[in-house]
Amino acid sequence: MPGLSQKFSQISESQTVALNSLMAKMKREGRDVVALGAGEPDFDTPQHIKDAAITAIRQGKTKYTPADGIMDLKEAISKWLADDYGAVYKPSEIIVTPGAKYAVFQALLAVCNPGDEVLLPVPYWVSYPEQVKLAGAVLKPLETDQNTGLKITPEQLDRAITDKTKVLILNSPSNPSGAVYSAEELEELARVIEKRGIYVISDEIYDKIVYDGVQFASMTKYPGIREQLLLVNGVSKSFAMTGWRIGYLAAPQEIATGVKKFQGHTTSNPTSISQYAALGGMNGPKEFINEMMKAFTERRNYVHTRLTNMPGVSCMLPQGAFYAFPDFGAYMGTSQDGIEINSSIDLCGYLLEKFDVAIVPGIAFGMDTHARLSFATSMEILEKALNRIERGLASLK
Ligand SMILES: Cc1ncc(COP(=O)(O)O)c(C=O)c1O
Repeated sequence: MPGLSQKFSQISESQTVALNSLMAKMKREGRDVVALGAGEPDFDTPQHIKDAAITAIRQGKTKYTPADGIMDLKEAISKWLADDYGAVYKPSEIIVTPGAKYAVFQALLAVCNPGDEVLLPVPYWVSYPEQVKLAGAVLKPLETDQNTGLKITPEQLDRAITDKTKVLILNSPSNPSGAVYSAEELEELARVIEKRGIYVISDEIYDKIVYDGVQFASMTKYPGIREQLLLVNGVSKSFAMTGWRIGYLAAPQEIATGVKKFQGHTTSNPTSISQYAALGGMNGPKEFINEMMKAFTERRNYVHTRLTNMPGVSCMLPQGAFYAFPDFGAYMGTSQDGIEINSSIDLCGYLLEKFDVAIVPGIAFGMDTHARLSFATSMEILEKALNRIERGLASLK
């Protein structure tokens, strides 16, 4: 048998597969596992968005659409970008994609040649490294620490760029850290990007999920890099529409045209019904986002207070998204009943097996002393989970 292609063979299985299987097994055995792994809002998709989809079905809008999406939705995205950020994108420069994930992937494929280097700040969202590999490019991680709030600096970016560097992937607000780059920080990065002539893929999928009056800053604000910016966003997180699979890429015309052709030959259009639902979301009331943010804020404050009150745990206050990314470094080298904790997988495995609480090991995001907790779940579940984590840590010697 010839076997799997080189391309497919190099995709890593998720680092968390073994833990997920263990969790599934424990649940089957009837154990009350509390999981804080979810990467999606726990809120239902708002009714007016569902209604827009139902109307589309009733009206027979269930056929192929243009590969890059229906014009009404592209116009709505163009207006949204103009109203929110003053960014000018023609509908032809916008490609509606089956989720923001596929927008990132196509952006990478559109600009990377084999061997090109892609700069990626650590911690990173789990899919970026695999997508970089699939694009035939070479990953160059940019390490960060708590001193810079888990963010890269312009000097660091400047130093890391070589003549092979093609693109920087930036994700603010960040999954997993919740770090948000300020307008000033982004401007300084934009200056380096402009000067050094690289592309930037700016994944702004959590733009509506920011706390404490933190001002979200978009990369679209820096006209000097307009021709170098590949902007990714979508409706998954802000409209609680993860399952509908609608994202978008806004990019210079040449790239948008290339992506339109590629998408036409790979997925064709994103689901027609979902596009009408997303249009209903963009044109409809937005108050539910405030309601969702009220709940997220209460939970974020609770989770952060609980974590930072645990001995040896430090955790940045998330400024955006719905994750906390505490540092459990102080527990590395500890043990309990012969179980040794030397990595984030060890720690998360121990908490799962012994204390029935599931969180995601930091190694999946490139930081092996950390773990990610999602607070897109109820206060009741959060309290239960944090009690268990606290007991688990207290038992380590
Ligand atoms: C940083 C980041 N980008 C993109 C996505 C994917 O969004 P979508 O569900 O629209 O593909 C996620 C989802 O977890 C994410 O965290």
